[in-house]
Amino acid sequence: MSGTARDDAVPGAVPAPSTGPDRRNVLRLGAVGIGLGALLAACGKGNGIGGSTAASSSSSGLPAAPAVANAADAKKFSGSTVATDIPGFGTELATTQQLAKQFEAETGVKIKAIPLPKSTSDAYAADQRLLASGQSSPDVLLVDLIYPPALASYLLDLKGHLTEAEIALTYPNLIAVNTIDSRLVAYPWYGGFGRLYYRTDLLQKYGYTKPPATWTELTTMAAKIQAGEQQANKAFSGYVFQGNAYEGLTCNALEWVASYNGGTFIDGNTVSVDNPNAIAALKLAQGWIGKIAQTSVTTFTEDEAHSAFGAGNAAFMRNWEYAQDLQKGSEVAGKFSVAPLPAGDVKGGTTAAAAGGWAVAINKNSKNQDAAVEWLKYLTSPAAQAYRAVNSSDVPAQPGVAAMSEVQAALPALKEQVIPFARPTQIGAKYNEASTVIFQAVNAMLRGSPVEAGVKKMAADLRELIA
Ligand code: GLC
Repeated sequence: MSGTARDDAVPGAVPAPSTGPDRRNVLRLGAVGIGLGALLAACGKGNGIGGSTAASSSSSGLPAAPAVANAADAKKFSGSTVATDIPGFGTELATTQQLAKQFEAETGVKIKAIPLPKSTSDAYAADQRLLASGQSSPDVLLVDLIYPPALASYLLDLKGHLTEAEIALTYPNLIAVNTIDSRLVAYPWYGGFGRLYYRTDLLQKYGYTKPPATWTELTTMAAKIQAGEQQANKAFSGYVFQGNAYEGLTCNALEWVASYNGGTFIDGNTVSVDNPNAIAALKLAQGWIGKIAQTSVTTFTEDEAHSAFGAGNAAFMRNWEYAQDLQKGSEVAGKFSVAPLPAGDVKGGTTAAAAGGWAVAINKNSKNQDAAVEWLKYLTSPAAQAYRAVNSSDVPAQPGVAAMSEVQAALPALKEQVIPFARPTQIGAKYNEASTVIFQAVNAMLRGSPVEAGVKKMAADLRELIA
């Protein structure tokens, strides 16, 4: 791995609220002044948000995907098949299928779509196994931004396949995250931050005028709303989040701990989690179970939280930007809004959002690399990113796309600034093992095991791992 430069460039690597150039870059995902005109000139194609020609709209009700700007190059591989990861659920799956359909129609290249498991940890384990055994398929992989150091040696260097101009469209810090030992091993696709979703109608019903600024306020508000709503609806929870033992829980726990000014588990080269603020944050979360969250939340990924909130069964939800897709046709459409996650109620407490995101990579052993590159170029093109932003609420990895008025209108949360915190990815290829230590320990705490002892053991295990 390439060390310091990349670590510094990870969004939010410095516990906030400082404002280095990289940090600002990510903070202002929506506020970048590149006009729509400039972006369209760069795409060279209509508005790129659907309604284009070759593939008709699908049964999913989505508009047709944008035209394939690189169709002429891609047609050279007509008749070949590209096996590709695609997102595993929700509107993200549907918009990506729609892009695949468009690409097939315009290029004659077949897309064999492989939906990823719901949990990024499961997706990583599967990719890791398959790449390590030298498999040539899938040709195209989706890579969570925490995994490039571990997977880099199995992935094609995209420099030389993408132009400097294409690379320059993306936020530089996302390029940095995916650059390992000077090799660009994946091209950024979308990003996102942890957000608080809240029911505007229920806040009003229970006498609240604004979302909670601190976790203590959230706990009080959620308890009151849950007590009222459960009288008619036993399935109702005050708060839903990602409590299962997987990467999503590491993100939630990072937000709790960082918001309590308790660090990011490992800061620099030092395991930092064994401190009173981190313990206070984890005790707070443990106290939610059975009070404002049902015990089943300890098995929730993003998808279960999204379903519960979307069905009207929760007052508050922690999720990524893409959950704004619930504004389209769900039970809670028009009845919720998005806010920064609450701050810890301590000195130095702050709102804290885990930084997340995905990139597209090509298997070094793919027998179909040139066709795979063409699919990657279309999937990550400004037009396709805009299509996904508008139709499945995915935050573009390119400032020019984020600045488009259609994208801003579709993703109101883009306008709000967040204070992002990176997961401790500075430890490189061992990150997944460290995260496993963290999420298993925190999941056990949510299920009732003592917090102080759990934190001590977690810290010892992390120290051993990074020694
Ligand atoms: C989202 C984020 C990703 C994170 C995952 C955790 O997919 O984009 O970075 O690891 O959630 O569940």
